[in-house]
This record gives sequence, structure tokens and C-alpha cells, in this order.
Amino acid sequence: LDNGLMRIPPMGWLAWERFRCNTDCENDPKNCISEALFRDMADRLAEDGWRELGYVYVNIDDCWASKNRDAQGRLQPDPKRHYFDNDMPTSSSVSLTCLVVVKGFPSGIAKLARYVHDRGLKLGIYGDLGTYTCGGYPGTTLDKIETDAQTFAEWEVDMLKLDGCYSNSTDQEQGYPLMSRALNATGRPIGYSCSWPAYQGGLPPKINYTLLGEICNLWRNYGDIEDSWDSILSIVDWFTENQEILQPAAGPGRWNDPDMLVIGNFGLSMDQSRSQMALWAIMAAPLFMSNDLRTLNSGARAILQNKAVIAINQDPLGIQGKRLIKENNDIEVFWRPLSNKASALVFFSRRTDMPFRYLTSLKALNYTAGSYMVYDVFMEKPMPTLKDTTQFVVSINPSGVVMWFVCGVLCSTSCLPC
Ligand code: GLA
Repeated sequence: LDNGLMRIPPMGWLAWERFRCNTDCENDPKNCISEALFRDMADRLAEDGWRELGYVYVNIDDCWASKNRDAQGRLQPDPKRHYFDNDMPTSSSVSLTCLVVVKGFPSGIAKLARYVHDRGLKLGIYGDLGTYTCGGYPGTTLDKIETDAQTFAEWEVDMLKLDGCYSNSTDQEQGYPLMSRALNATGRPIGYSCSWPAYQGGLPPKINYTLLGEICNLWRNYGDIEDSWDSILSIVDWFTENQEILQPAAGPGRWNDPDMLVIGNFGLSMDQSRSQMALWAIMAAPLFMSNDLRTLNSGARAILQNKAVIAINQDPLGIQGKRLIKENNDIEVFWRPLSNKASALVFFSRRTDMPFRYLTSLKALNYTAGSYMVYDVFMEKPMPTLKDTTQFVVSINPSGVVMWFVCGVLCSTSCLPC
């Protein structure tokens, strides 16, 4: 969508995968969907070095709303949910009277937006084109599109994820373009994420990627990510099997979205976490973390904050990468062209035995310009200059990656960023 927004893939944090529809603020005040959770995450993004790396969106997902619209028919945040605003006392001897009980989104979304903006961040919200959201909260039916766009703009929201539960393909064909126009008509720049393709199989002829690129900044193509390696693999499989269709759809202002980063949760090993990060960077995917930034371990943090992989993801040319090679020994090679004639390579192992020594050459990967400088993204160090004809071996861990930033020797003396 040519609205000047998201010329490089958006980055930030999104509540859904990690915090789901936990509305039990009485018993689980720190983790329920409430203003406190989003303030906490905004604090972490601003204070722990994320914002400077580009992670600027703080995105609310489902289950934020009241089950009823207000008297004017507008969406409103849940006024009934309660949570404890303070840090929970660790000692049981501390009197409970010191805890202040406040409501789920007591200040409203507009105040939350101000809180987020004051920290140099942006606020995203969730809606659903249909009778209900996937979690059963009020949806945006066709007659409510303008009202809801107006409400989000008045709250000074910066992004909308419009889901597609409880609507049919005819509603979606009308509704997704209508919301695009309604957001534009508010005059406020609002990034627009459309789940439309994910509800229609993600492929032509049901999905017209040219049209999507004209009306949406990003779109979910496929099913929901879960906190497991199996889930990552099924997403990578689908995106690579259909790469000839998906790859040309992406570009500045219009991105395929393979869903959130689940790095830092419970399901992925460190190697698998590097694999998700590397493959999402190759795919020019939006980088929305869904994890608990308050308790993130240092290994996950290092992967998510790796400057070279972020630079590859955020490359201004905005050309999505592809799988180049699928060996029958479960080794695959991915490639993405970058600006200044640089490129990224990912050597990926689906094996489950031991580190695999993969023998190849740059020439075998279509590099023919003589000598190249190589920076190993996760080792965080430059490698010796490599001739295109030279055979080399990379050792790839099971379910892991080796990722290289590659540039011709002519373009720079230091190979990052080229
Ligand atoms: C759908 C979406 C998810 C999430 C949930 C919320 O499943 O694909 O990303 O937004 O709805 O209910």
C-alpha cells in the first residue's frame, strides 16, 4: 500500500502468540490482556535497546475490547477487567491493602497511545472484519468500517491488524478494500495488516496479490504460528513451496507476513531460534516478537538484537529472498539480494543427527563476480575473502543455520553493511 508507511518491514512486539486471550486479570494480573501489559512492553522496548534497532510497534491483539459497543456504536476497551497495577509483593506477609485495583484499560486506548508515543514507539490495534473477532469480541461488519476506522484514528493508533473470522469471501472482497479507504480517509497514517489471504488459502485465483499490494501494507498468508519447531517448519514449507507466487508480491510498503517471532518462549532451541530469525530475514518478513520482554533470556535477546540479521531484514531494496537449493540430504540454501550488490545466504539444515559439513562454492550458488567478502551473521565476525570458484565447507547444526552477509570486494573494505 502506497501510504508512505512500512517501506521496510515493520518491527515490534505483538501480544497474541505469547499472551493469547488471557483475560483473567484477577488471578494473573501480570499476564492478562490489559493496559499494564502493553505499558510494560513499551517500557522494555524503550529501555532495553529494542527501539533503536527498529522494534517500535507495540501491538494489541484480540480480547482487548468490551463485549459490547458503546451507546454510539463504537468499540470500547473492556471496562470490567481488573488487575493489580503495582508489582506483586513477593512476601506473603505484605498486606494486600497496598495493592491498587484498577480496570483493564482504565485510561482508554488514547491514553495508552500517548504513553507509547511518549516513548518514541507506535501503537497497533486489532480488529476483525466480520461479526465477531476470532476470540468472540465485537467484530467490524461492513456497516461499521467507517466508525471503527474513525475511532482508531481518534485514539491515535498507528497500525491496524484486521483479522477475518466470522465473515465470508464476499464480505472480505468488499471489506478489506473498504477499510483501506476508510483508514486513508481519516487522514492519520495507519499501517494496515490484512489477514484476508490467510482466510482464502493464500493463493491465486482466490487471492489477488496485486490488489493486496495496493490496499494493504502487510498480510498474513497462512495459518497461525505456535510455540514449536513443527509450526515454524510448516510455515517455512508453505512459504517456500509457493515462493514463485509470494516473492514478487512483496516490496516496499507491501509485505508477506509469515507471522510472529516466537524466539524467547518455550518451544525453540537456540539453533531453531537462529533459524527462525534468519529465515524471516530472508523472507523480508515483518518482525513482530511475541514473547515476554520482561523475562527474556540473554541467548534469545542476542538473536533478536543481532544487528546484521536485522540489517538484512530491513534492507531498503525490499526484495524478498528465496530458497535456491533443496538438497535431498535435508540441507537447503536460501538467498536474498540486498542493496549495493550485497546479498544474504542462509545454509539451513532440517537434519536431526549431527552438525552437517556442507561442501559447496559461491559459483554453485550463482555468484560469478570473482572475489567476495563474507561476514558470518551469528558468529558476528568477518570471514576470509572468498573466490567464487573456491570450494568451502560450512558446518550446519541440526535444525540450525549458518547465515552469511556477502558483498563483492569492490563495494567496500568492510563487509557490513556493504
Ligand atoms: C486469528 C489470528 C491470530 C490472532 C487470533 C486472535 O487466529 O490469525 O493471529 O489474532 O485470531 O483471536
